[in-house]
Amino acid sequence: MLVIETKKELKDKLSAFFSNSKSLGLVPTMGALHAGHLSLIEKASKENDQVVVSIFVNPTQFNNQKDLEKYPKTLENDLNLIKTVSDSIIVYTPSIEEIYKNNIAAEVYNFDGLDTVMEGEFRDNHFNGVGTIVEELLTSISPNKAYFGEKDYQQLQIIRKLVQLKNIPVEIIGCPIVREESGLAMSSRNERLSTPMRKEAALIYSTLKDAKEMFGTKSALEVIEWVENQFKNNTFLNIEYFQIADIETLKPIKEKLSNKKYRAFIAIFVDDIRLIDNIAL
Ligand code: PAJ
Repeated sequence: MLVIETKKELKDKLSAFFSNSKSLGLVPTMGALHAGHLSLIEKASKENDQVVVSIFVNPTQFNNQKDLEKYPKTLENDLNLIKTVSDSIIVYTPSIEEIYKNNIAAEVYNFDGLDTVMEGEFRDNHFNGVGTIVEELLTSISPNKAYFGEKDYQQLQIIRKLVQLKNIPVEIIGCPIVREESGLAMSSRNERLSTPMRKEAALIYSTLKDAKEMFGTKSALEVIEWVENQFKNNTFLNIEYFQIADIETLKPIKEKLSNKKYRAFIAIFVDDIRLIDNIAL
């Protein structure tokens, strides 16, 4: 398996490949890979002749320096996991200097308000940082398709907006959320949960499933109130937000319209560990 650290070397490798007009798939990640990431890599491998997986902990999308410092780095294990999908995948692991030279700053985008709700409300400038790194990867690697998880549904919609804004010729593929047996959405942060907390955290997805069922017969406001109540007296899980939003605009709603599609989004703190999840309604 090829591990490449510089843009130039990656371009050289891929130019031979483009001249054969084969399809290239890109899976951007920050490493600490788990089965959720692997599902994206597997899908990309099935749908393309060549796949690039990038592993880069992007400093400009962290609004909290401690969070950035604490981000797990498990390169050896990541490479072993990628190998289980295919030995012919190219892994791109640029340094911060390679991506940002000496100016570690995010571009400022106009994402039409997609970035100011939910995660954007609680993580200042986060999506400008995501946009900056994803634009850099898409324009320097020029994949035919790029793969992103619905686990970060707001991020996925913002990336769709980014490629529209910047006219980047790539197909953005959204991939379903991979869950643990308990229903808890896979995340590298789950590793930090103690065994009892991890068990308790299964309540997040079971509540989302109940909310989905209720949304068939109850108003949006009733569902929101019910979900908030589920966590009110829970000593372990603290709700940061629960919102029902239009899947296109991501605008939170209080009343549903019959011609619109919605998704429910949740962010929960277990101690200082922040977990997010969402479900199509
Ligand atoms: P990261 O958190 O490493 O996630 C990489 C990709 O894996 C994202 O598209 C994310 O949505 C997807 N993913 C994570 N957990 C998943 C799960 N349980 N099921 C399905 N997909 C899952 O998201 C990022 O990195 C960064 O913001 C990035 C896009 C790489 C830009 O830096």
